[in-house]
Amino acid sequence: MQASPESREFRMTTTLLRTPASTTPAGVAAWRDLFLVAGATVVTFLVAGLLELSEGVGGFLKHFEAYQLDEVPLAVAVLVVGLAWSSWRRSRQAERELALRLEAQEGLSVQRAYFETLIRENLSASLITDDRGRITIANPELGHLFGLPAAESAPGRDLGSFYADAGQWRAHRAALERGERVEVPGLRVRREDGQEATVIARLVPGRNPQGAVEVHAFFTDVSALEATRAALARALEENRLLAQRGIELLEAERRHIARELHDEMGQWLNALKIDAVSFRDRDDLPGDARSVGQGMIELINHVYDVARELMRRLRPVALDELGLAAALQYCVDQWHRRQPALQCEFRADALPDSLGEAANITLYRLVQECLTNITKHSGARQVAIDLRCDRDRRVVEARVADDGRGIDEAGNRQGLGLVGLRERIEMLGGRFRVDSTPGEGTVVLATLPLTATESAA
Ligand SMILES: Nc1ncnc2c1ncn2[C@@H]1O[C@H](COP(=O)(O)OP(=O)(O)OP(=O)(O)O)[C@@H](O)[C@H]1O
Ligand SMILES: [Mg+2]
Repeated sequence: MQASPESREFRMTTTLLRTPASTTPAGVAAWRDLFLVAGATVVTFLVAGLLELSEGVGGFLKHFEAYQLDEVPLAVAVLVVGLAWSSWRRSRQAERELALRLEAQEGLSVQRAYFETLIRENLSASLITDDRGRITIANPELGHLFGLPAAESAPGRDLGSFYADAGQWRAHRAALERGERVEVPGLRVRREDGQEATVIARLVPGRNPQGAVEVHAFFTDVSALEATRAALARALEENRLLAQRGIELLEAERRHIARELHDEMGQWLNALKIDAVSFRDRDDLPGDARSVGQGMIELINHVYDVARELMRRLRPVALDELGLAAALQYCVDQWHRRQPALQCEFRADALPDSLGEAANITLYRLVQECLTNITKHSGARQVAIDLRCDRDRRVVEARVADDGRGIDEAGNRQGLGLVGLRERIEMLGGRFRVDSTPGEGTVVLATLPLTATESAA
């Protein structure tokens, strides 16, 4: 930073104040004065002795005895001693005041040095402009930010010339003239080489010591941060697309396997069962052989049940046939049959039929995963599942709450259930939240925008 004229003036003032103290010490001056006074006294004594001055003056004053003038010499002697004492006191006082002033000046100059360092070494560009926006003072960082050869070349330049958008500079000047501060989180500035940078900007209207209007401006370069943020946003978006594709593929694969199970395995099991029935019902076979047939029928029935349960889990057929509310009711009932000790409440109020395939399967998987988690992790006694459509806010809300032990935040999380749910919900533009209090339970809340769900239909 350039040394301002003020700071030069300040240093000179300090020097002047200190000079007498350092070149002619006060003690020396006092001794010199004392010698002068002593010399003058001796000379006066000698001259007065020689000329018999006191006798003369005494004789003369005797004529004015009536006016007590013969007492004057004594009074004058007291006056002289009094004046000497008073001037000695004044000089001591002046010395003390001078010492205090010097101390204050010293403190000020130390502070000034601190502030100069703070501005000079600041990682933010700092500058002052006059009332027309011309830079008067700038720190070195401004030179780096605007790509100037040195901060010294900044004074005299128009701050507006570094704005990428001239209209924005005009708006900022107007606000500053109204006495308003200007704060911009992402201001585009143009460097000397024409390249643009993004800064956080703060412009503050002010006045210099002479009362003239000026602007104090501070810019922090966040271009690198912005670039990282943009790269991160791109990576997140790619990640999201990847997750979305993964979930779509998963659903498609599940649907395919369910259909294969139904079409292929179902057919073959059916054929096998027909054969087993005819085998069991043949009168020409011995009883033992027929009971083997019966055993085969039971095994086939069992395999069929297992396959049907698999098919239901892979692809909830009821979802397509009966809609979300009925499919969920069935899913919850099935789950409750396996957890009879748990109290379970299920409500699905006024869900629109037109939620759409994507929203339907997402909400179904959400409830399915939450119920599995409750069985696996919660130790809950009560569960409440609530789905409702808020037409005013144009959202569908799904809430699954339990009164179990809550999520152990410190635990080692390896599962993908909740992460997958968040992906699914956010993929549809919704919001996903898990609230959990240790010892009190867990609430999973998903909100899907109605427009998104309808358009997905
Ligand atoms: N209702 C709940 N009550 C208590 N803890 C829960 C509950 N739901 C989830 N958790 C905790 O959160 C963790 C993460 O759950 P998440 O569903 O993501 O994974 P997971 O169930 O362990 O495995 P995955 O779902 O992949 O089979 C669980 O390991 C468990 O510690
Ligand atoms: Mg899970």
